[in-house]
Amino acid sequence: MNRSLSIEFSRVTEAAALAAFAWLGRGNKNAADEAAVKAMRLLLNQMEIQGEVVIGEGEIDQAPMLYIGEKIGLSRPEDEVVTIAVDPIDGTRMTAMGQANALSVLAAGGKDTFLQAPDMYMEKLVVGNDAKGMIDLNLPIEENLRRVASKKGKLLSQLTVAVLDKPRHTKVIAEMQQLGVRVMAIPDGDVAAAVQCCLPESELDILYGIGGAPEGVVAAAAVRALGGDMQARLIPRNQVKGNSLENLAYAENEISRCEALNVPINEVLKLEDLVRDDNIVFSATGITTGDLLKGIQRKGNLATTETLLIRGRSRTIRKIQSSHYLDRKDADLHTLLNV
Ligand code: FBP
Repeated sequence: MNRSLSIEFSRVTEAAALAAFAWLGRGNKNAADEAAVKAMRLLLNQMEIQGEVVIGEGEIDQAPMLYIGEKIGLSRPEDEVVTIAVDPIDGTRMTAMGQANALSVLAAGGKDTFLQAPDMYMEKLVVGNDAKGMIDLNLPIEENLRRVASKKGKLLSQLTVAVLDKPRHTKVIAEMQQLGVRVMAIPDGDVAAAVQCCLPESELDILYGIGGAPEGVVAAAAVRALGGDMQARLIPRNQVKGNSLENLAYAENEISRCEALNVPINEVLKLEDLVRDDNIVFSATGITTGDLLKGIQRKGNLATTETLLIRGRSRTIRKIQSSHYLDRKDADLHTLLNV
């Protein structure tokens, strides 16, 4: 992808994060998400790309904007063809409740770069470059922990694993703790944790657990760009949440979506299946402060953002601090930045 495009993607996540921030702590996650989606779409549509959303806010009938298949960008014949995986807010609940660790995030690549996973659950196992090749979701988690620890020259008690703090993980968290592993149980937001595992300076060794598939594909772009490793498995809702009639109906729909997209369910997907090319860009802007990024600071019309921008081909990792005079933004964006 044209190098000069990459910085433009940081403007997109900045705008979405600023729009989400206007709804910080107001208890309305849908409004926060809607504002972030609108801002993201506005900025994407100004870009000199022939873009298509491949991971988005859902199917066309559920999502009025940034739906899967939506064309975005100026889309002139001379513009580059780009596919985009977006998560305008990873941590909608955290944004609505004023809690830490919410991000606005996207990944971009060429045609057919990203796995077209429906919005369903995905089991994920992520490690950084120093444990690449050591993970296998077909093996028990204990075996994976031991392999990663030995590759890193660590004892199990020196291993740190992030897991979403959800009832479905109670058993595996206890199992890991019994092995002496340090578990960081995060309330929400597994994209940030996946990225952290792969950053050279991070103390996090592994992300494990079941979270959203769209978040999994976006995170996989960062993992690939940073030379880390990831395996994943799509799981129907009833296998995660139980066999209620509602969950079974959901699962039936997920299975038929997967069949239509030709993606396997309950089978291990490797990093190369999730993201098929290194020529990718990953951009994440902090909404609220977390271990990965600082959140937005706003005083009246002045706001500061922190963005992580990674280019896969060169593996350049940029942290961009920006100051925004909100009254100087285009009118369309400006209206989204004030509630
Ligand atoms: P949203 O902000 O889109 O709700 O995602 C938050 C999140 O914690 C993701 O990071 C994670 O992958 C997913 O939700 C887990 O799903 P669930 O909340 O159903 O356990």
